[in-house]
Amino acid sequence: MKNAPKPGNRKKIIIISFIFVAFFITLAFINKIQFDDLSNFTKCSIYSPSSKISSLPIKSSSENDIRILIGILTLADNHQQRHFLRLIYGTQSVAGAKIDVKFVFCNLTKEDQKILIALEIMLHNDIIILDCKENMDKGKTYTYFSSLPDMLKDESSNSINPPYHYVIKGDDDTYFRLPKLVETLMPLPREDLYFGYVVPCPSMDPFVHYMSGMGYLVSWDIVEWIKDSDIPKRHVIGPEDKVFGDWIREGRRAKNRYNAKWSMYDYPEPATRCTHELWPDTVAVHRLKTREKWVRTLEYFNVTRDLKPSKMYHIP
Ligand SMILES: *[C@@H]1O[C@H](CO)[C@@H](O)[C@H](O)[C@H]1NC(C)=O
Ligand SMILES: *[C@@H]1O[C@H](CO)[C@@H](O)[C@H](O)[C@H]1NC(C)=O
Ligand SMILES: *[C@@H]1O[C@H](CO)[C@@H](O)[C@H](O)[C@H]1NC(C)=O
Repeated sequence: MKNAPKPGNRKKIIIISFIFVAFFITLAFINKIQFDDLSNFTKCSIYSPSSKISSLPIKSSSENDIRILIGILTLADNHQQRHFLRLIYGTQSVAGAKIDVKFVFCNLTKEDQKILIALEIMLHNDIIILDCKENMDKGKTYTYFSSLPDMLKDESSNSINPPYHYVIKGDDDTYFRLPKLVETLMPLPREDLYFGYVVPCPSMDPFVHYMSGMGYLVSWDIVEWIKDSDIPKRHVIGPEDKVFGDWIREGRRAKNRYNAKWSMYDYPEPATRCTHELWPDTVAVHRLKTREKWVRTLEYFNVTRDLKPSKMYHIP
């Protein structure tokens, strides 16, 4: 009982707790007023919070733009990771491209998720909830791709066809550099394309085996094929990236393929046959499993280069 407070201390703790609660109630009250002001403001202006963040800032939305959906498969409870990735992707902008980053998970299962996820959607509008039970290798990827055509058809704002030229399945420990991704995709076909990091690691031939689950991309016609064909439907169980490659092979799809190795690779440490040093010609870095690895990667790519100087802060 070393940590039990003495009676005198206990009184102090109770008083301090009261002050804290009062403080938070005041704070919440002030925030509510500010929020009301804000919601008034948004109502009478063109600015809308959901459209602002679901697609990336500073970009024209011309019909000629290349349109890419990056679906990051994750879990409903990973709020922190989503917050972090919004920081990573919300600060990248690419002229001539419309890139939507969305977080993808299966049916909600807990009471608190109903309110917390709904709030996230209200603020960010970047979440896709699939009709499935959360799983890794039991068909979540199939549900993701096969649900998209109907999902996007129903969105009245997405009347352009195809809604996206390319759809990516990504991991939440992968860092995509969007300008480089777009630069790489620009000269490539927009049909029958399968793009990624060929597995196994030493292989450089995109026509054997499959693309690693770190992040692979297909053109919209393949997404529609996944929805319509019986081939994927019959075979959904197994390591999702390998299963995906099986569909493509069995369906004789993707006459266009692009091996993005070594502009996509695993983080240099621990060194394996799949890793590469960080280097400027990078589309994606994978296996960013720790905060430290993320930070070193972001530092390397000078992501804060455009921070505006101000008297309000000083960052050494
Ligand atoms: C919101 O706008 C309405 C009318 O435009 C105004 O009457 C009201 O006072 C405003 N509320 C706040 C909190 O600014
Ligand atoms: C997911 O949720 C929807 C809506 O609540 C429900 O209709 C559906 O059966 C659920 N699917 C699974 C696989 O649990
Ligand atoms: C980051 O900035 C440094 C210093 O300006 C520069 O030498 C380096 O090439 C930049 N790195 C990349 C990947 O752009």
